[in-house]
Amino acid sequence: MTRTVYVNGEYLPETEAKVSIFDRGFLMADAVYEVTSVLNGKLIDFDGHAVRLKRSLDALDMAEPCSKEELLEIHRKLVTLNEIEEGMIYLQVTRGSDGDRDFVFPSDETKPTIVLFTQNKPGLADSPAAKKGIRVISIDDVRWGRRDIKTTQLLYPSLGKMMAKKAGADDAWMVEDGHVTEGTSNNAYFVKDGKIVTRPLSSDILHGITRKAVLRMAAEAQMAVEERLFTIEEAQQADEAFVTSASTFVMPVVEIDGQILGDGTPGPIARRLREIYLDESLKAAV
Ligand code: PDD
Repeated sequence: MTRTVYVNGEYLPETEAKVSIFDRGFLMADAVYEVTSVLNGKLIDFDGHAVRLKRSLDALDMAEPCSKEELLEIHRKLVTLNEIEEGMIYLQVTRGSDGDRDFVFPSDETKPTIVLFTQNKPGLADSPAAKKGIRVISIDDVRWGRRDIKTTQLLYPSLGKMMAKKAGADDAWMVEDGHVTEGTSNNAYFVKDGKIVTRPLSSDILHGITRKAVLRMAAEAQMAVEERLFTIEEAQQADEAFVTSASTFVMPVVEIDGQILGDGTPGPIARRLREIYLDESLKAAV
């Protein structure tokens, strides 16, 4: 089955979808994106992603390509056309193109480019990695200073994943001024004596949609949460650790820079939070 994608108002076979070589997303990573997961054919936390998309666009003074209602309609139609039961929808909005390369923004008449495509991932919720837990290494965080804007500048996170792979691990946690910022494509947490610790929101990290939901659900389940800076060494001494993202939900971490946490298997709090998150999110899915 050929995947149907969405480009600037049209639903097309992926082989026919085209974007200009002058598009600022291509030339300058002048683009923002969202990844929304699909479970049981429904969108998880669509509202959260739509709100963050608007925030990213506003922060970069980029025009909204369409209304939230139209966005939901496009997401739903792509899920139906591509028969997605479990997977992800990738959405990207760029500042468009006025037919040349220039550091100066194009004129206000230039239309943003909007592209959406689906990724079919059967077994996303029942992931083998979540049963085993993942291993992370630490790397320096050398990204730009506005990590709260979800831009497509993903070269360093991509290099970070490759560094982890080379080291025989699954992912990397980034460290700045001695403190963990976040994972290459997720937010980072550890648990010590029953308390969940994660870095507070600022422009240093992406304001994860999954993070927000998980912290709310943790509080509702009477789990203690502390938002503060923490070091790799502290996380290595933790009872357990985990990461959150739209594509991995709550993913247990069992090893940090070669140090095994607890008995080396996913911890009870990470496992419980994953269950609660999947349960609650499915109930609220649209
Ligand atoms: N990444 N931090 C970073 C740097 C991320 O790239 C992501 C998401 C997150 C988690 O945010 P959320 O819970 O809203 O997915 C945190 C997506 C999944 C990606 O790039 O594929």
